[in-house]
Amino acid sequence: MDTKTVRDIDVAAKRALLRVDLNVPLDNGAVADDSRIRASLPTIQYLLDHGAGVILMSHLGRPKGQVVEALRMDPVAVRLAELLGRPVRKLDDCVGPEVETACAELEPGQVLLLENTRFHAEEKANDPGFSAQLAALGDLYVNDAFGTAHRAHASTVGVARAMRERGGEAVAGLLMEKELNFLQDVVDNPERPFVAILGGAKIADKIGVVTRLLKVCDRLLIGGGIANTFFLAMGFDMGDSLVEEGAVETARALLKEGRSRLVLPVDVVVADSFDNEARTQLVAPDGVPAGYRVLDVGPKTIATFESALGGARTVIWNGPLGVFELPTFAQGTFALAEALARLGGTVIVGGGDSAAAVRQSGLADHFTHISTGGGASLELLEGKTLPGVAALDDKQ
Ligand code: 3PG
Repeated sequence: MDTKTVRDIDVAAKRALLRVDLNVPLDNGAVADDSRIRASLPTIQYLLDHGAGVILMSHLGRPKGQVVEALRMDPVAVRLAELLGRPVRKLDDCVGPEVETACAELEPGQVLLLENTRFHAEEKANDPGFSAQLAALGDLYVNDAFGTAHRAHASTVGVARAMRERGGEAVAGLLMEKELNFLQDVVDNPERPFVAILGGAKIADKIGVVTRLLKVCDRLLIGGGIANTFFLAMGFDMGDSLVEEGAVETARALLKEGRSRLVLPVDVVVADSFDNEARTQLVAPDGVPAGYRVLDVGPKTIATFESALGGARTVIWNGPLGVFELPTFAQGTFALAEALARLGGTVIVGGGDSAAAVRQSGLADHFTHISTGGGASLELLEGKTLPGVAALDDKQ
């Protein structure tokens, strides 16, 4: 990785302004899934162990530039303090005189958490004045918010520039480094055979990823809703299934280009409604009955996928194979998680729903890396440069 990290600079006795992605799901005012908080701990701990004081900032949800009480960072501060085993002082804004005083008084070993950066419209506008106000809070800037690195916002991009203008460094954290290592470096130079698995609902979100992975991987396994559009392109009647007419031409071209490497489902679970109590059938993809929709892959598909995975040294998986939120249609996704957990080699889960499925399956420990980024991991897999990474200092 060309980007400078916290390990390349001296942080002792400095106030580190650390952008993390603590955009976590909340339930009744408490953190419902603390994976992103846990993933942020190594960098926080590294900075504290090396004599820095830490000023944390993050967005939470999409408050549209206004204060939304339900999206304050307080529950995050409570969970973070528990996990860190030390106090976390939460402030009620992320800029302004009170914040400036608290940050100026910060001692090495202490932790502050600023309020939700998206309570200010200037955050998403990447406003230079707001970026400068943020940068003035610390002596150096660390971006560990991989999940938000695809957003060019003040706390991810503008602040890096502003920090440099003040003579401070702008570097990556340890989570950012790890994510880029697995989703960029490993995918650019995989140990082969390299197999990619793509699922999820919408093909439009993933056309760029399918196109790129088809060029670099040895086999590309496709499941979930995105397979439907490929079947439509093959002339199958998909009943009431989710299909994207606008993507049929692209799917046809991808089939032509990569048919020998593409592996599609050979059986699918179809249902007469979108709920757990629906009537279901197991059919071939060209046998979807009228009034039914595809909601999962079947057992023959899992067997086919397992044999296509045989001997793989690198696997990347992004997107569930069915509507796994509904137990009736979760079997394909969980069977795939089990097969991948048994595989050995480097197995990377590209974030979002597939990461949630792996955690639900209880098999997370068997995977090499589970990304904390949804949109960011897709953009990286597509081969795009993430603005939050591009804004950081390069190693000399
Ligand atoms: C995410 O959850 O994908 C990141 O935190 C970015 O959030 P956003 O999609 O609201 O920008």
